[in-house]
Amino acid sequence: MIVGAQWGDEGKGKIVDLLAQDSDLVCRYNGGPNAGHTIVADGQTYKLRHLPSGILWGKECVIGAGCVVDPGVFIEELDEMERRGLSTELVRLSGNAHVIMPWHLAIDRGSERRLGRLKIGTTRRGIGPTYADKAMRLGIRVQDLFDPKILRQKIEVALAEKNVWLERVYGAEPIELEELAEGHEGYAQRLRPFIADTSLLVDRALRDGRSVLFEGAHGTLLDLDHGTYPFVTSSSTLAGGAPAGIGIGPTRIDSVIGVAKAYVTRVGEGPFPTEIESDDQERVRELGAEFGTVTGRERRCGWLDLVALRYAARLNGITSLALTKLDVLSAFDELPVCTRYRLRDGTETDEFPPHQSDFHHCRPVYETLPGWREPLDRVGEAAALPGAARAYVEFVEGELDVPVTLVGTGAERERALAR
Ligand code: IMP
Repeated sequence: MIVGAQWGDEGKGKIVDLLAQDSDLVCRYNGGPNAGHTIVADGQTYKLRHLPSGILWGKECVIGAGCVVDPGVFIEELDEMERRGLSTELVRLSGNAHVIMPWHLAIDRGSERRLGRLKIGTTRRGIGPTYADKAMRLGIRVQDLFDPKILRQKIEVALAEKNVWLERVYGAEPIELEELAEGHEGYAQRLRPFIADTSLLVDRALRDGRSVLFEGAHGTLLDLDHGTYPFVTSSSTLAGGAPAGIGIGPTRIDSVIGVAKAYVTRVGEGPFPTEIESDDQERVRELGAEFGTVTGRERRCGWLDLVALRYAARLNGITSLALTKLDVLSAFDELPVCTRYRLRDGTETDEFPPHQSDFHHCRPVYETLPGWREPLDRVGEAAALPGAARAYVEFVEGELDVPVTLVGTGAERERALAR
């Protein structure tokens, strides 16, 4: 099981890609095209939205019931993979996954516009409204696409309500039933070969002793229940979300790899204690190419936050950590690392504050570690890292009491050093 241990964009795609080689199945269990995994393989860059990273190794790829799917985006992605010579024959999609409909996109945009200064900063891919309708039991599932009568009926019921919202609340154009129903019936033909009982499929694979990799999307602090609400996504991003989203028991997960950058980034709004206040933020952004995969937005950059990472280790039961993008820190003489938060009443804590106001107002307390000031691109093994870089990694391990088993030193596949 691989999870993002920060606010997303930790470089999970690369770690999943690495481990996918030795897996039989690679599964996504939450989120939708708001997740963007960038993988550089054989000099080519792949930006994945829906598809698990295992697609690049020709593995069986599962998109579970806990995901939400935009059929247009999904089909485009399948077509692109085929165009680039990758087979999509082993992609499997749960019929229970929910479909992102055009009104979800329109409502996501309208709602953000309406919130103005209070906006969440969503990816505008319709994620929140789709999960909201799922919980309201108004959602349309992938399996509904295959029954034109049911589909039309469900679209009609939904549109009767959504169009009122769109027109009256958001001042947006209403959506036409006919055009929409026809378009989605068309999607059904293209999607049919991929539909499977993915819970059963994963269960069988595990029973047969095959190796299954779960690929978490987004990050721990974007989790709907335990993240920095309301600046979160609308699904369960934690390791615990995998059994629920796929439909297997929690006892089937035997190890959880947390992926964290050697610093922190965040896109969208919301509190961020270690956000860098000097020009160094811009330097980290440039050196780390910190611009969103899905939206192209600038990512906010901060120093490593071990309070938040300790929280992620707890929430996910992380058994080992992959620390990515260590090379970006080569540019700095000194590296502040946040080990505690100072709360408004002056007390200090090394645990993540359970109350949002404490988190919103806390100040980071830093320990400053020495930088190594040399590029890492020629380092071929973890033992050959400069002493200060090794000390940085060991400091993280010591503070969290979790072993760091992989260190990332660049975007390419081979730039992940095993420890
Ligand atoms: P939504 O998931 O589009 O509703 O966006 C909700 C919040 O989660 C926003 O702050 C997004 O920027 C953030 N978010 C969603 N997915 C990702 C991701 O994959 N990486 C980083 N941030 C994300």
